[in-house]
Amino acid sequence: MNNENQLTEVSTFEKEVSEGLNAFPKYLSSKYFYDEVGDKLFQDIMAMPEYYLTETEYDILKNQVAQICTYFDRNKTGFNLVELGAGDGKKTKVLLRYLLDNQYPITYNPIDISKNAISGLVTNLKEEFSQLEVRGQVGEYFEVLDRLHKKSDQKQVILMLGSNIGNLLHPRAIQFLKKLKNTMHKEDLLFIGFDQKKDPQVILNAYNDTTGITEAFNKNVLVRINKELGGNFNPDHFKHWEVYDPESGTAKSYLVSTKKQSVVIESLSQEISFEAWESIHTEISQKYDDTIVNWLAKESGLEVVTSFTDKKEYYKNYIIKRKN
Ligand code: AVJ
Repeated sequence: MNNENQLTEVSTFEKEVSEGLNAFPKYLSSKYFYDEVGDKLFQDIMAMPEYYLTETEYDILKNQVAQICTYFDRNKTGFNLVELGAGDGKKTKVLLRYLLDNQYPITYNPIDISKNAISGLVTNLKEEFSQLEVRGQVGEYFEVLDRLHKKSDQKQVILMLGSNIGNLLHPRAIQFLKKLKNTMHKEDLLFIGFDQKKDPQVILNAYNDTTGITEAFNKNVLVRINKELGGNFNPDHFKHWEVYDPESGTAKSYLVSTKKQSVVIESLSQEISFEAWESIHTEISQKYDDTIVNWLAKESGLEVVTSFTDKKEYYKNYIIKRKN
């Protein structure tokens, strides 16, 4: 990353922190959880027994890989597998292993905003899958997808795992899916994970572990403000609070100020005051059912082809295509 990019990035962070902490009610974007520390905390979250999403999706892929890959490419004519937000690739490797062992002619294009994540993954994949053609790309999803779309007529299967779409409220999810649709050709497919509505207690527990990992993850945005913007938040003076509304299917995370206090943020030259028990909203993790996913697809000019789920129906991976 060059200096100029680093500067613009810091200033977006500054701008959004200033906007969110001067708003009423206060909010901060969950995209700022993810720096090196946050990435590590998220790895720990994925390993927690309460956070059922990761293991459930892994099992769906593992148990149904043959059917899934048949949908991807019935005649083994070949395709480019594009992954949005690749992470450590543990789940994707299940698909890659099967596709390669069964002579599907594929290439793999992981896309991530983090250069670190991509270069680590590419090195690792080249060791494990020497036959695989991997082209990692650093950038914003749509910038890279546009580039890929213009460059080739090769069929694409776009992967988006982990219920990452759940960070978007429905109107923004539709915006996102519409943009995705516009980068897709008629025969391209989207393979995307949506965490499902279930016993509200199970959902609440996934975001409210007693070991405090999710709390630390949530508070990492304050730690980043301290480190990167010269803030003096004391994370101990905020409480991690999770709610789940079974009607809307939205889990929401908050940081609640446990006392009246003010915080200085040097790079903004601002002092932010908190009333006792005032909240900062930090994340949404949306839960879905088939009706909602079909509706989101329809609103975006897409259509669900089929879906794969686990025994408990905790989680679903949908295959989606363009409606026309
Ligand atoms: C990576 C956005 C899917 O919302 O479940 C995990 C992030 N936040 N625990 C989610 C997260 C708290 C996660 N996503």
